[in-house]
Amino acid sequence: MCAQAAISNNVRLGRHVHVNPNATIGHDADLQKFVSVNPAAVISGEVIVMSGTLVGAAATVLQDLTVWERVLVGAGSVVTKDVPADVVAKGVPGRWQE
Ligand SMILES: CC(C)(COP(=O)(O)OP(=O)(O)OC[C@H]1O[C@@H](n2cnc3c(N)ncnc32)[C@H](O)[C@@H]1OP(=O)(O)O)[C@@H](O)C(=O)NCCC(=O)NCCS
Repeated sequence: MCAQAAISNNVRLGRHVHVNPNATIGHDADLQKFVSVNPAAVISGEVIVMSGTLVGAAATVLQDLTVWERVLVGAGSVVTKDVPADVVAKGVPGRWQE
């Protein structure tokens, strides 16, 4: 946990999770092991981020979504749907190739 990160209530952080400065983790979010949240990213309420995923700087994951394992969410992207495992999701709205 870095300085200036904001963690809401009832959040679960797995082992080796890294939350960078000015990142925000919403209520009831579940960040599983080896997740990294880069600076100023926003994980909204009730989001599940599965193991090994990286959320890029200033990206936003909207509420109630699941981002599966080993995803790269591009910096500045806005994730509006569940993201499958092993993709690069980028842009606004976030898109990827499977
Ligand atoms: C998305 C990311 C993982 C790279 O993905 P990639 O598919 O390997 O990207 P490439 O560099 O090969 O670029 C491929 C295309 O995606 C675009 N792109 C790259 N990053 C992007 C992003 N964050 N949002 C939107 N488009 C992006 C490129 O402009 C390029 O577009 P083009 O084909 O029209 O020229 C990376 O750019 C990124 O955003 N990583 C997070 C970095 C971060 O958070 N840094 C802060 C560290 S503290």
